[in-house]
Amino acid sequence: MKKIEQITTLADWQTFRSSLPKGARIGFVPTMGALHQGHLALVEKARSENDVVLASIYVNPTQFNNPADFAAYPLDLENDLHALESVGCDAVFTPQESDIYPDGPVARVYELQGLDQCLEGALRPGHFQGVATVVDRLFDLLQPDAAYFGEKDYQQVKVIQRVAELRGGQPRIVPCPIVREKDGLAMSSRNRRLTPLQREFAPQIFEALRFAQEELAVFPVPLKALVREMRGIIEAGGHLKLEDISFALADSMTPVTDPERYLDRYPEPIQCFVSAYAGEVRLIDTHRVVESGHSPA
Ligand code: PAF
Repeated sequence: MKKIEQITTLADWQTFRSSLPKGARIGFVPTMGALHQGHLALVEKARSENDVVLASIYVNPTQFNNPADFAAYPLDLENDLHALESVGCDAVFTPQESDIYPDGPVARVYELQGLDQCLEGALRPGHFQGVATVVDRLFDLLQPDAAYFGEKDYQQVKVIQRVAELRGGQPRIVPCPIVREKDGLAMSSRNRRLTPLQREFAPQIFEALRFAQEELAVFPVPLKALVREMRGIIEAGGHLKLEDISFALADSMTPVTDPERYLDRYPEPIQCFVSAYAGEVRLIDTHRVVESGHSPA
């Protein structure tokens, strides 16, 4: 197994970059560490499409709208390095805050066409501007050819596609499918903070999403009724507290909010977004609940 190179300074990055063969394609997997199979699947995808695979580990302060969440974010560098190495990642960039934010940790303001204001953006003010800022800075520093992101953070992928568009289409953004535990729970660095009982009940989030998909395939259901049933599934047992269930047109991310309208009567596929708390731990998941849109009746 080839040893992974840990790059901690911009000077070391320049040295590494200049050691690469001319024209080598760089696939990039940005992360905040505490890696799981979902991240490793991104590295494997990048491995299959590029000459060099580079990951980054940096817990970005400007995307945490809740300081307690930032403070509680798990760090596990030793294990992360082993995990990345085991799937053939060539190098990992672990920058200092001053490399990312030379003028201090403040988010820039990007024209995100409202993507930062709706859905998850409305629940976490400032979050997506923080994500856009760090990702844009990493793209500037590392100049990758392609960058890989998991669709669990579906709206984040849309935001990053917009950032790449603002950068003239560089790098190519590659969305990758959600990786789930056997019981359906979407993999997340936060799952390791769950108590055994919370962990047992956490898959109810995906159960509710699958229920929505199955229900919509057979019955015309208005949004209000579906949300009521999904809440019942998520909160059954009393270990999860629903924060939000939202729906949006899957491509444009236009929120679907009419409580009386049947969800299978929109002209485009529909994506559902759930956030719920298990104690202090905020969990999110998303699923395509209507695959192809219908003409309005
Ligand atoms: O998805 C994440 O882990 C983070 O939001 C990202 C893209 C690494 C930016 O900090």
